[in-house]
Amino acid sequence: MRIGIIGFGNMGQAFALCLSKKVGKENITVYDIDPAKRQIAVENGFAFASDIKFLIDTSDLIMIAVKPKDAKEVLKKLRETKNKIILSIMAGVSIFDIEEEIGGDKKIVRVMPNLGVAVGSGVMAITDNGKLTEEERNKIEEILITCGSLYRIEEPMFDSFTALAGSGPAFVFEFIDGLALAGVREGFNYEQALKIVIDTLIGSAKLLKELGGNPNEWITRVSSPGGTTIEGIKFLEEKGFKGILMGCIEKTTEKAKKLKG
Ligand SMILES: NC(=O)c1ccc[n+]([C@@H]2O[C@H](COP(=O)([O-])OP(=O)(O)OC[C@H]3O[C@@H](n4cnc5c(N)ncnc54)[C@H](OP(=O)(O)O)[C@@H]3O)[C@@H](O)[C@H]2O)c1
Repeated sequence: MRIGIIGFGNMGQAFALCLSKKVGKENITVYDIDPAKRQIAVENGFAFASDIKFLIDTSDLIMIAVKPKDAKEVLKKLRETKNKIILSIMAGVSIFDIEEEIGGDKKIVRVMPNLGVAVGSGVMAITDNGKLTEEERNKIEEILITCGSLYRIEEPMFDSFTALAGSGPAFVFEFIDGLALAGVREGFNYEQALKIVIDTLIGSAKLLKELGGNPNEWITRVSSPGGTTIEGIKFLEEKGFKGILMGCIEKTTEKAKKLKG
């Protein structure tokens, strides 16, 4: 399957690199209106199409990785396509929006990725407009899985997914920074505290992922009766830590919904 990526910015580059591990760089062509991106493409071994039409004609799967404000400009070029799979990663642009521009007969896939794609550990939501064959769906999933984990969800849940997984890394970075600063307050230098926190985070996530169970069971295991950990947990509960997180996701989801208009 030949892949064409329109928009070779942060996400376009991240996807090109991880997808190439599955399909090979020779099967990926990229296009961007910014001529400076040609150099980046060439340095990384990707063919850079000099016009969008060439990319469209020579690709089976066309990924749209431009900002939502540039969507219309790109989509109008896809109206005449036949039998291509159009995959959009644009936040806030629904399948309905895309169908309105290019026609409901097209095979349209919508994916909401996060920044983790840059290291092959993205978290992605996927849905489509029901025009793909089962074989095509499986093929797309098989390719995307190279970039991280994939969750097939209904489109109305995309805004909440955007908050939880799309913006999620920023919230996790806030959490990490807060703990690292707490380490500094205790007397570690920031670099050392940061490493300790990152390793603690990776270890905790691994425990949950590999050994299963839910976080509450693990909290109970870590907290010995009358011990130190439960003191910290009590403080978090008093300050409404989980309520703050729920509020944060609620606000972010609301904003995602508003952006769509
Ligand atoms: N970044 C994230 O973490 C993230 C997460 C989830 C989803 N997304 C979605 O991914 C998409 C891309 O985001 P990004 O952060 O990669 O943006 P970006 O770095 O700005 O990359 C977009 C690229 O597309 C180019 N472009 C603009 N109009 C074009 C056109 N008509 N034809 C071809 N190329 C065009 C831009 O060039 P100029 O700079 O010259 O305009 C830019 O190089 C967005 O729709 C965003 O909603 C991003």
